Amino acid sequence: MAVNVQGLSDNARKTATTELNARLADGLALAMAIKQAHWNLKGRNFIAVHELLDTVHANLVAHLDVMAERVQILDGVAIGTAERVAEASSLAPYPVDLTKSDDHIRAICDRMRDHGAKLRAAIDTTEDAGDADTADVFTAASRTADKDLWFMQSHLE
Ligand SMILES: [Fe+2]
Repeated sequence: MAVNVQGLSDNARKTATTELNARLADGLALAMAIKQAHWNLKGRNFIAVHELLDTVHANLVAHLDVMAERVQILDGVAIGTAERVAEASSLAPYPVDLTKSDDHIRAICDRMRDHGAKLRAAIDTTEDAGDADTADVFTAASRTADKDLWFMQSHLE
């Protein structure tokens, strides 16, 4: 069985790079949607949500950086251009006509929930393929995603 420098099997490496690039594409699309909301929302709780969105964006992008670098570690190519992300993202397209704060929060929460579910699935897929370290990258991203979804969702209660 072929192994790479870390001693991972070809199947583990390929599964991991495929999963990492898939979640990277969704995460980058989500990051752009979060900025779209950050810039365009209006409402009584404007400043709180405006600032929270930047925190959520920063947390998300930090995990995406780890994912992209993990692809390189595994001898893959991280795919993060706007054109390729637009093709590869599995998230629902973000509307550009929203203005109300609650509408933006709901639209972002829907996509965060979708992204979170796919991160959880990626934990199992990469663990099963034999790459516990990539599974750990997804676990860390998933834990942050859950916390930030709670922060966002709490504005709607
Ligand atoms: Fe800003």
